[in-house]
Amino acid sequence: MKEEQIRELLEDMSTEEKIGQLLQLTGAFYADEGLATGPMQQMQLSQEQVEQAGSVLSTVGAATLKKIQTAYMEKQPHHIPLMFMADVINGYRTVFPIPLALGCSFEPEIMRKTSEISAREMARAGVHVTFSPMVDLVRDARWGRVMESTGEDTYLNRCFAKAAIEGYQGAGVGTKDHVAACMKHFAGYGSPVGGREYNQVEVSERSLFEDYLPAYKTGVDAGTKMVMTSFNTLGRIPCTGNQELMKGILREQWGYDGVVISDWAAIHELIEHGVARDEDEAAYLAMQAGVDIDMMTNVYALHLKDQLASGKVTMDQLDAAVYRILNLKNELGLFENPFKDADESYDESKKPDGEHTKYAREILPETFVLLKNDGILPLSKEPVDTCKSIAFIGPFMKEIDVCGAWSFFNRKEENVTLEQAVNERELSMPYTIEEGCHTVPYGMRFVGIRGEVVNPYTPEELGVLKANAVASAKQADVVVMALGEHSFFSGEGGARTQITIPEHQMELFRAVAEVNPNIAVVTFSGRPLDLREVNEKAKAILHVWFPGTETGHAVMDVLFGDASPSGRLSMSFPYCVGQVPVYYNELHTGRQYIDGTETSRFFSKYIDAPNHPLYVFGYGLDYTEYRYDNLVLDGNQVTKDRPITVSVDVTNVGKRAGKEVVQMYLQDLVGSVARPVRELKGFEKVALSAGEKKTITFTITEEMLRFYDRNMNYVSEPGEFKVYVGGNSDAELSAGFQLV
Ligand code: GLC
Repeated sequence: MKEEQIRELLEDMSTEEKIGQLLQLTGAFYADEGLATGPMQQMQLSQEQVEQAGSVLSTVGAATLKKIQTAYMEKQPHHIPLMFMADVINGYRTVFPIPLALGCSFEPEIMRKTSEISAREMARAGVHVTFSPMVDLVRDARWGRVMESTGEDTYLNRCFAKAAIEGYQGAGVGTKDHVAACMKHFAGYGSPVGGREYNQVEVSERSLFEDYLPAYKTGVDAGTKMVMTSFNTLGRIPCTGNQELMKGILREQWGYDGVVISDWAAIHELIEHGVARDEDEAAYLAMQAGVDIDMMTNVYALHLKDQLASGKVTMDQLDAAVYRILNLKNELGLFENPFKDADESYDESKKPDGEHTKYAREILPETFVLLKNDGILPLSKEPVDTCKSIAFIGPFMKEIDVCGAWSFFNRKEENVTLEQAVNERELSMPYTIEEGCHTVPYGMRFVGIRGEVVNPYTPEELGVLKANAVASAKQADVVVMALGEHSFFSGEGGARTQITIPEHQMELFRAVAEVNPNIAVVTFSGRPLDLREVNEKAKAILHVWFPGTETGHAVMDVLFGDASPSGRLSMSFPYCVGQVPVYYNELHTGRQYIDGTETSRFFSKYIDAPNHPLYVFGYGLDYTEYRYDNLVLDGNQVTKDRPITVSVDVTNVGKRAGKEVVQMYLQDLVGSVARPVRELKGFEKVALSAGEKKTITFTITEEMLRFYDRNMNYVSEPGEFKVYVGGNSDAELSAGFQLV
């Protein structure tokens, strides 16, 4: 429709219709013929209010959504179509690695492509908006939702946020096989105190602007069509009712004029937070903050009319919200085609699209991080002296839930397990496969957001599993163990105070290590883990996160050397949970301590652990090695008008081809406020064949040196700087330069 037609429609709508557009319900309200009475009564909604709702979430399927849309539009006075939204975070039918793993690829192009494929699959299933990307900066491995982020670095998150939104939205959300992105959670949700889910967030204004907000700003600039509020408080004001944040920064400073949707029930939770006396006040606060859609509560539906009558909320405010929603529906083309790309045939296809799963298998090694390798990997495909037989042991050999906490629409039986992939290989040497234990401890019935996981074995059965595993380890030359936390141990509501591999699995690991030291461990998780003990006793550790549909194939491709791991950590792995939050770009403090240097007590350190994480941001090994040298600057002074170029030679000094992530960090030695010890400002993933050398260049501009000064002005300040280039955030190859 044309702009003026939207305006005319808006004018013609009743107040009830307008308020209805701000209501979002799940498909359960529309599932059976007319309307489900249960949820409706529970929310004290009338049948008419349900019929006036503007959007539906969490229900998918071309046939189902077409049916709901048809029935709904018949009843809708102006036949305004519904918008269908869902959490497609790392894939719809073809599930890709969790975002924290995608961040490890240091290849935003992979994020773009996986987002594009996900858009195609979900659009065919009738979805119009995805509640993705999540661009929250994360530094606390205790928090369960770190798995949804691309990590601890602002610059890396910005690159991935842009790529995801462009992948989902393409040349326009109305184009075929594209959807609207809903960037979340605005803002600062990734740093709850204690890593505890939904807890308050306490960051300084400068840290908020310096570290947390830039990725959201990049998402707005990339054209995200929707922004979701976050559950947490910022400055002790819940974001969903925070005018300064939602209107002041998002709309007025950044010029965002798209739709804002609350997180689930977050408007009603303003009461729980203690900033709204009742639903009336909650409705008022959220409207003043410019929140357009009320996800799954009745606050707007039941109270906006009174707010309008009292003049607390104006019709202009309501019209502005409704206009943004109608405008998005129009951009999606829903007035012309309310079903958009819904295609039943695609939905009922017997298995995921082969091209999509092929791409998934291809990119997975780029997200796997080789944390340790004493040479045991890659395994030989043919029997050799050191490896004439292999024992595959661990619960993740058979685990099919390998897609992460948000893989609602994945059909688990389509996921390739490690066991399946090993058997497909028809190895030319004897091997065994033993589960050894279950992913979750005995007696645990664990409820996640996608159902529950139960350890089905009796103690006797578990004893037999373990005995068989140890016996198989004794017989074999090499052991490959597949261990990790179940996907329900992370994701929303998945905060942990310990970040180790579950103890019952560690008992299995110790028992195996007792009888065979030649162990390579494949670890699965939705967060950085405390891997100290595994690091001590295993000869190799390949961290694969939750890889998705093609898990088994890709893990075996890497274990047997058909592909090399080229992931680099997007989030630091702590030495232990006591270090958390731990991240590379910290401040110097007044008593900087480098492990092992000072014996004096009075430095910024612990008496019972090092400062250094077990594995730092940007770290990862390969099946080959790289040498950096010849760091050259083409000048030693940067000005506003004249950048300088940094070049470095990177040589593959090993025997195998590989991909290195060349990283450039900058350090501002003195500023009007304390500055981080270094910050990632550039990276390039480069393929190098054995012996090959390439010269990689980066440009240092004055803009890269800007920060929020004492008066919160975003400026650069003349002075001394250092540039570091290398393969992780500990890079030592450096040079000095000035900003003048
Ligand atoms: C959840 C999550 C949010 C998700 C929404 C809809 O509570 O916080 O990320 O998109 O509800 O499922």
